[in-house]
Amino acid sequence: MTRGKIMRASAPAKVMLFGEHFVVYGSPAILGAIDRRVQATARCINSAEINISSNVGFSTSYSSQTVEEPRLHYSEGQRFLHPLYAAIYGILKDHLVERNIGVRVDITSDIPWGAGLGSSAASCVATVAAVGSLFDKPQKGWVYSMALRAEKIIHKNPSGADCYISTFGGLIYYIKKRQNRKIRSKRDLSLVVINTGIRHSTKAQISLVKDFRVQNRPLFNSLSNHVTRICNEAVSAIGLGDKKRLGDLMNENHSLLSELGISNDEVNDLVKLCLDNGALGAKLTGAGGGGSVIALIPDKFQTDFITKMGKKKSSQCIPVKIGSGGLLIY
Ligand code: PMV
Repeated sequence: MTRGKIMRASAPAKVMLFGEHFVVYGSPAILGAIDRRVQATARCINSAEINISSNVGFSTSYSSQTVEEPRLHYSEGQRFLHPLYAAIYGILKDHLVERNIGVRVDITSDIPWGAGLGSSAASCVATVAAVGSLFDKPQKGWVYSMALRAEKIIHKNPSGADCYISTFGGLIYYIKKRQNRKIRSKRDLSLVVINTGIRHSTKAQISLVKDFRVQNRPLFNSLSNHVTRICNEAVSAIGLGDKKRLGDLMNENHSLLSELGISNDEVNDLVKLCLDNGALGAKLTGAGGGGSVIALIPDKFQTDFITKMGKKKSSQCIPVKIGSGGLLIY
């Protein structure tokens, strides 16, 4: 590692258009990278520490010489940043020959945290890429696998979809541990993300689904088959630029997620509000239990929709373009 070297990387947030949760058990999902990003800046420091600070308000320090296990007395910041630390340590241990050397990482993000937009995956991807670049010219495949290791510390059983889309970008049809394919869209695709402001825990939501699956296996399998059909039809609708059909499929997917028990009254009310205000379709995105709703709005009504929603709800409305580029290192 060259002392004084500074490397930066940025990675996008994502929306799950279709297939969240079922994707953990092998069904397909459709995800798009969005034009909101996390930037990580990494530099070498002259002390045996890994210092991480994030503009979400957390800043903490760990040893660069031994791996620290998460501790019960950890502060919220230490718990939040621990997976990033583990990822950084994983890179450093193969490269640090000198003692009294460490790394400092500064993270800036314009992705709301806990909103179902993949902020933790984007932070992992950008951090791994920036730290990895202090030593080498990292390949995207390597960044993806290292970031996924860190994601596994956070969620235990992630599908890998969030890290994948954040690394490679675009709009993809994703199946866990299989070859993924880019989806071609006839027209530019944009959505409005409406953040409920209720932070969710992806880990807790994944665990709810795990219990549901154990207790209701036949129902889970049938919901899963239904989601697979929705994803396949959505690929055609996107290809044809058929927004009406795409909106109907989003509504269908939301009903399945409600049946799975991961929606709640606030999210369902917000979905209804979107539909009452002209959305062609609306659904929760990501882990649910709060987080965000995505709405498909006819292009010419988007500004009007955002104004109307702003008057009725204090929720944050974010227009997003789907299919943005993936990881950048500079
Ligand atoms: O809410 P998020 O951004 O953490 O999305 C999680 C998506 C899940 O399908 C629920 C989990 C996964 O690993 O795919």
